[in-house]
Amino acid sequence: MVIRPRRNRKHAAIRDMVQENFLSVEHLIYPMFLTDGSGIKEEISSLPRNYRWSLDLMLKEIESSLSLGLNKFVLFPAVSDELKDQTATYSYAAENFYLHAIRAIKERFPEAILMSDVAMDPYSSDGHDGFVQDGKILNDETLPILAKMSIAQAQAGIDIIGPSDMMDGRVGYIREALDLEGFTDVSIMAYSAKYASAFYGPFRDALNSAPKSGDKKTYQMNPANKREALLEASLDMEEGADFIMVKPALAYLDVIHLLKEHSTVPITAYNVSGECAMVYAAAEKGWINYEAIVSEILMSMRRAGADGILTYFAKDFATFSNK
Ligand code: PBG
Repeated sequence: MVIRPRRNRKHAAIRDMVQENFLSVEHLIYPMFLTDGSGIKEEISSLPRNYRWSLDLMLKEIESSLSLGLNKFVLFPAVSDELKDQTATYSYAAENFYLHAIRAIKERFPEAILMSDVAMDPYSSDGHDGFVQDGKILNDETLPILAKMSIAQAQAGIDIIGPSDMMDGRVGYIREALDLEGFTDVSIMAYSAKYASAFYGPFRDALNSAPKSGDKKTYQMNPANKREALLEASLDMEEGADFIMVKPALAYLDVIHLLKEHSTVPITAYNVSGECAMVYAAAEKGWINYEAIVSEILMSMRRAGADGILTYFAKDFATFSNK
């Protein structure tokens, strides 16, 4: 044998030299759930190790994350049912606790990068990402609502808007609305290839945001499709997306790879709630090594081509890497 690939694995120093991909805390974005009130840190039953935080305790969690080098956060609001309506008016209301929290966090920690969620579901009495009429999710009627929500978040100081709604044309619509208001520096991370996935279950528990009727298959993508992701990604790039996202991530590594090959903007991957919940459950049973599995899963997303990763493992990964 002339060629023995094992020679390049014989010593840790050589293995390190030939390592092709790297993962570190800079690549990670930490998703957190915000609730109104104070002194609240409520564990999510289907997503253990993750909580609904009130602002006061979320500020402490952000501070401790920052001390570990984890400085990017995506925030989701858990809104009580009586504030929800058909047109998601609370999403841009002046008294909205989510907008207030964005302002407070940016004021206290200007070094933290904050990303929002833009979609109607946390605020919608129908539990859908778009405006529902006669059982249909209307596309063009949803866009002005998303734009109002985005402007309200920009006014509160958000760094990155994250449209997760999958309405057609929303990236361009939001970009134009932001620019008209002078928010040309606010970025858009488009949930471009977002699939109608069963992996979102724990997230919907966290926000109590499951659809009241029907499913999300008329706007989220069919898990069987890959080429269609190219169409979604190219539209979002043309419409001004600064980043394009694939979601879920672990079961869609092929899609991450495909978009990386065909895009000119950075790719992010959302390692969603159900993907993390499976790992927490197996680790709790002692069936897997949590730390090793988390690192391997996140590395697989980097290897597939993800520049950034949204993951509930972010804080734990940051903790391991600071050991
Ligand atoms: C809703 C939204 C969802 C997630 C992020 N934004 C759920 C859905 O589309 O029903 C899921 C994230 C996760 O499961 O971690 N716009």
